[in-house]
Amino acid sequence: MQLNNQKVLIIGSGGREHSIGWKLKQSEHNPVLYFAPGNAGTANIGTNVNIKATDISGLLEFVKKEKIDLTLAIPDDPLALGIVDEFRKSDFRIWGPTKDAAKLEWSKAYSKKFMEEHNLPTAKFKVVTDFEDGIKYMESMSLPIVVKASGLALGKGVIIAETLDEAKTALEDMLVNKKFGNAGEEVVIEEFMEGPEISTHAFSDGVSSQAFPPSQDHKRIGEGDTGLNTGGMGTIAPLPFVDEGTFMQIKNTIILSTLVGMEHDGVPFEGVLYPGLMLTKDGPKILEYNARFGDPETQTYMRLLKTDLLEIFNAIVNKELSMYKVDWNEGFACTIILASGGYPGDYEKGKVISGIGDAEQDNDIVVFHAGTKLNENGELITNGGRVLGVSAIGETLEEALAKAYKAVAKISFEGMQYRKDIGKKALSLLK
Ligand code: AMP
Ligand code: GLY
Repeated sequence: MQLNNQKVLIIGSGGREHSIGWKLKQSEHNPVLYFAPGNAGTANIGTNVNIKATDISGLLEFVKKEKIDLTLAIPDDPLALGIVDEFRKSDFRIWGPTKDAAKLEWSKAYSKKFMEEHNLPTAKFKVVTDFEDGIKYMESMSLPIVVKASGLALGKGVIIAETLDEAKTALEDMLVNKKFGNAGEEVVIEEFMEGPEISTHAFSDGVSSQAFPPSQDHKRIGEGDTGLNTGGMGTIAPLPFVDEGTFMQIKNTIILSTLVGMEHDGVPFEGVLYPGLMLTKDGPKILEYNARFGDPETQTYMRLLKTDLLEIFNAIVNKELSMYKVDWNEGFACTIILASGGYPGDYEKGKVISGIGDAEQDNDIVVFHAGTKLNENGELITNGGRVLGVSAIGETLEEALAKAYKAVAKISFEGMQYRKDIGKKALSLLK
């Protein structure tokens, strides 16, 4: 497949997709980018196409009409709908896991059973569909108890119950009251794990894989990891508190073992595997799998990636990843998310955003767009919960964070909120 001037369709509309496009634009092969549906930032580096990420037939029609050479299936929803399988049926080149491989993310019941069968380190658990069975198991556990809806629930389907009553209520909400719809038909009940939480990613073509440096997200809305869960409020990478030995252990006992297990089960994993881990006192354990790039992790990763991303995506689709070495720049990167007031609850849209140009005066800063669009007057306005990702690079993590926060101070919109403690916990672990 010719790489020069490839027409690439990126599915999605977040900061993750903008950062992937930003990195692809640096390819020496000059790809031509399309985003479905994209945002105001992606419109500056490619063409936005007004098709939803879940409209598979609409997307298929578009790639046929525009003669797209490669489609990147980035968000979880289209993967769970089987976009990769559908595109392949029609002989279109697409990057991402099949529906069966993405099941590692869209069914926690499946992924926990997979971990058990392949002896992968994770919290002790039971999958239940019957309320009474669940109660019986919970009564045998120590507190807190973790209760999870098996399906995709926008990060809201996980309850950490401090009391048995709370755990029972959570189970009842999921199984009996159907609070999460189909996503709660099966429930995973598991033991609580303690330790720093980290994100790992690896490119895989089903046979060969290459791990990214470890990163850390900050999922709660409030400083000191308090308040509601969000999609992620800020990331750092690499992690100074993860030593080479621990990273090797993660690569061997978690990433490689998972990919070998998937291949063994007849569902080779192609794309990016993203296991969320807890570094417990008994070693790294798997919290969950994602079958895609993380957001905002990817905004940070793209600032560190050295290798031509267009070549990597094509190598994976061609099952030639073993011929490539994915390289990362020295130093550190971070991303601070600027969110709408009220997020992750209700929030208003349409607030005028100012100061991005000023923030990007520093060459080490890149501001990625998530929920943004232009209004009728051509002004940049907010259009979602997570609005912007302010990313910075530096020789040290402290330096990257200081630059990022200096840039954040130049940006404003009504109600803007962000966490002021991104990376703080990681730095304190070093002291
Ligand atoms: P998940 O969607 O499974 O990653 O869960 C969402 C969040 O809940 C994770 O990022 C963790 O912070 C927390 N969590 C999930 N499972 C556990 C567990 N077994 N022990 C402690 N915290 C957990
Ligand atoms: N950073 C969290 C996620 O992408 O799921």
